[in-house]
Amino acid sequence: MTKPVFTPSREWSEDAHVNSLPQYKLIYRKSKDSPESFWTGIAGRMEWIKKWDEVKEEDFVNGKIRWFKNGKLNVSANCLDRHVAEGNGGKTALIWEGNNPEEDQSFTYSELLTEVQKCANVLKGIGIQKGDRVCMYMQMVPQLPISMLACARIGAVHSVVFGAFSADALRDRINDSECKLLITQDTGVRGTKQNIPMKINADKAVAETPSIEHVLVVKRTGETIKMQSDRDSWWHEKMDTADAVCAPEPMDSEDPLFILYTSGSTGKPKGVLHTTGGYLVYAAYTHQIIFDYHEDDIYWCTADIGWITGHSYIVYGPLANCAVSVMFEGVPNYPDFGRFWDVVDKHKVTLFYTAPTALRALMKEGNEPVTSRDLSSLRLLGTVGEPIKEPEWNWYCNIVGKGNCPIVDTWWQTETGGILITPLPGATPLKPGSATFPFFGIEPVLMTEDGHEIEGNDVSGLLAIKHSWPGQMRTIYGDHDRFIETYFSQFPGYYFTGDGARRDDEGYYYITGRVDDVLNVSGHRIGTAEVEGGIGKADGVAEAAVVGFPHDIKGQGIYAFVTPMTGVDGNETLAEKIRQSVIADIGPHVKPDKIQFTPALPKTRSGKIMRRILRKIAEGDVDDLGDISTLADPSVVESLVKERV
Ligand code: PRX
Repeated sequence: MTKPVFTPSREWSEDAHVNSLPQYKLIYRKSKDSPESFWTGIAGRMEWIKKWDEVKEEDFVNGKIRWFKNGKLNVSANCLDRHVAEGNGGKTALIWEGNNPEEDQSFTYSELLTEVQKCANVLKGIGIQKGDRVCMYMQMVPQLPISMLACARIGAVHSVVFGAFSADALRDRINDSECKLLITQDTGVRGTKQNIPMKINADKAVAETPSIEHVLVVKRTGETIKMQSDRDSWWHEKMDTADAVCAPEPMDSEDPLFILYTSGSTGKPKGVLHTTGGYLVYAAYTHQIIFDYHEDDIYWCTADIGWITGHSYIVYGPLANCAVSVMFEGVPNYPDFGRFWDVVDKHKVTLFYTAPTALRALMKEGNEPVTSRDLSSLRLLGTVGEPIKEPEWNWYCNIVGKGNCPIVDTWWQTETGGILITPLPGATPLKPGSATFPFFGIEPVLMTEDGHEIEGNDVSGLLAIKHSWPGQMRTIYGDHDRFIETYFSQFPGYYFTGDGARRDDEGYYYITGRVDDVLNVSGHRIGTAEVEGGIGKADGVAEAAVVGFPHDIKGQGIYAFVTPMTGVDGNETLAEKIRQSVIADIGPHVKPDKIQFTPALPKTRSGKIMRRILRKIAEGDVDDLGDISTLADPSVVESLVKERV
């Protein structure tokens, strides 16, 4: 039986929003027993132009989820105007820390409001209207959150595409949601890379995106780039002449706010659609309670805005709470492995939220980069994106947090909009590796494969959620049937997460990872089918199967089994072609770590690849490969094991 290893001190808990386990349990029970009245109280903290007339509609059979029905509000007004009107215009909203240590910039709430209004007018001037889709393909520059909030202000729907995606991946995402405008930048800087070709990639993509009418280009580096005069314009030129007043558009609670693409186990990436009222309420409330945000905190989430963590916990949650939110353009090891801690010291960060993969990379470098910096401002640490193991949890707790900071290991997904399972820092005794207990209003259940709820403690199963919560995604853009099929068909009446989990003898949840063909590489969610598609585009490849294997830093690495075409040699030249093909098709973050050539893949007699066997081989667990008698040709396995890389 694992016992909690960390309990917040009395002083810590005293000032916390939720300050004891009994208090957590009490509020949790209320939220579960009367969700309508619970969420009515929480949603009332936002500024509504018109109050809703029904709290929620929840129909998992048809995938119909609605929150705060017929309410009207504007997200940018809630994140900006409301705070300025309350006298907080002079408070810092956003601190941008550049990749190069001497570069930073901050915006007060008034300044950010002005920028957002100007940008909103620029969008309108370009012809963007309510409901139009706008794609952003940018690195971590302040113009990214500014343009997101500007979209929210006029009711346009943003679709942020992570800046490491390739031109082809960008093209497919733009085409899927038929974006009218693309916002990008000249080139990008990240670590030692001082010239990432953003505009060049954007041009390549836009050559095959008929819906794009205009490209707006932020000057980040000043690198010379080609502008196409009838299509492209500079951000700064348009902003210079834009009017600084733009009234926020009253939006329906269920109007779309954004689309964000994420990977599934099959097919093309899914455009996860989040709407306005429920998403904002959930992002703001979880940010406040889980990070125990108070008005003098300096909050830093190191994620990229190209992923959901950045949307909910750099932009919308913190700004809705009138927080100071730090955004960072760089990487943890540039100019050296102390960079995170330099930034903490420089801006006196109190709440720090990062990914286990970053911690593993930093831990490997020893304690000196941490202990040589002053981290005394820190009072809370958080992690997200993948399971955190005991060694890095202990290092985070003892070396970074000096044993004084609670760690919130937050479990959630692009689809959930906000955190669902998490400790509450002033209340929950912590166990390393456990995301602990459900947040208010969330009812996790463990299911058997055949759809029965597993009761009691000390059990494992498939993680599903009973009942809706305000931040839940509403559909897959353009494919509602896929939405129902993916999330609600496996266990009718429940939302299925795709994760497996264990509930220990004290009811603590441990997320054990994906149970589908989705990998988690350095906290990036990657569909094996997508990587296989990229490999298949390399000349000379007949067939490929991709699985994950445990990787010290990345959490999971990508292991590709590839069958070359007849007459083609499975050599380093082909391996390099494969890597380049994947980079061109998706991006460098999904480059296979290992490639094993094989004359054949293990298949059943009906032609289905047996991934279970490939997984075991990739993991090096070759002594017991289980039943291989159903294979069409069991001898394939022997050579696969022998040739393991
Ligand atoms: O497998 C879970 C893992 O990340 C998946 C969601 O990925 P994505 O949609 O990209 O969102 C990541 C950021 C919210 C989940 O299905 N995951 C996320 N958080 C944790 C986690 N696994 C274990 N522990 C976590 N705290």
